[in-house]
Amino acid sequence: MDLKKIIFSATGGTEKVADILIKGLDESAEKIDLLDRNREFSKICLQKDDVCMLAVPSYGGRVPKEAAERIARIKGNGAKAILLVVYGNREYDDTLLELKEVAKKSGFLPVVAVAAVAEHSIMHQFAKGRPDKQDREELLSYVQFIRERIENPKPFKVPGKKPYRAYGKIPLKPQIKRTCNHCGKCAKECPAGAISMGEYIKLDKNLCISCMRCVAVCPRHARKLSPVLLKLASHKLKKVCRKRKKNEIY
Ligand SMILES: Cc1cc2nc3c(=O)[nH]c(=O)nc-3n(C[C@H](O)[C@H](O)[C@H](O)COP(=O)(O)O)c2cc1C
Repeated sequence: MDLKKIIFSATGGTEKVADILIKGLDESAEKIDLLDRNREFSKICLQKDDVCMLAVPSYGGRVPKEAAERIARIKGNGAKAILLVVYGNREYDDTLLELKEVAKKSGFLPVVAVAAVAEHSIMHQFAKGRPDKQDREELLSYVQFIRERIENPKPFKVPGKKPYRAYGKIPLKPQIKRTCNHCGKCAKECPAGAISMGEYIKLDKNLCISCMRCVAVCPRHARKLSPVLLKLASHKLKKVCRKRKKNEIY
């Protein structure tokens, strides 16, 4: 099997889950990084024999806009797609349905879909440490089913409804601390091109998608969210995120 990992993972949670499944499938995979805003995705032409894992996190119950736009430019040409949505223990709402539709529009043939939980990349107290041992075991128990679906594709349904959940803008934008030494790593790696380098590093709050990539990649830990706003947001989600949510396969 020629497996490709087409993935949008700003802080690594989605990739952790993807790699557990890929390892379980006994595969290594070529990575196509959807975070890369400079890549010409329209030049990626897949083939019918290819098997791709299309992996995205759930943002507000939706596929991150940048990820959807980049997948839409790839030419699927009938390549089989293992859909993977990773969420932070609230809900993934319409994300799997949207990913399936985006994949089909690009010419992929979705054969199976997985929804899995990873630590919340903004409010780390939710799903802390996940994927954990139990997740790993559950995910590995899906491998045989995934193999069967790759060999014998069948129509399948995923949860979600249209119109998709309205994506409310998230007011949590990482601030720059004094320890920043202007190395520019955050600007280079921002998937939305929201950070510019000049005399000062500037964040365009309208472009920022709150993915926390800059927080994750800063070597000096010089980016962080307002503790007050974070506390408010955490309080709002506390009830709905309290119970351990499960992984699922369709
Ligand atoms: C902007 C944003 C919105 C999010 N929205 C949701 C959500 O609606 N439901 C949920 O359960 N988790 C949500 N999360 C948590 C992520 O889906 C989860 O932490 C995921 O593992 C992040 O993937 P990454 O580590 O690959 O970046 C959100 C995270 C971010 C950054």
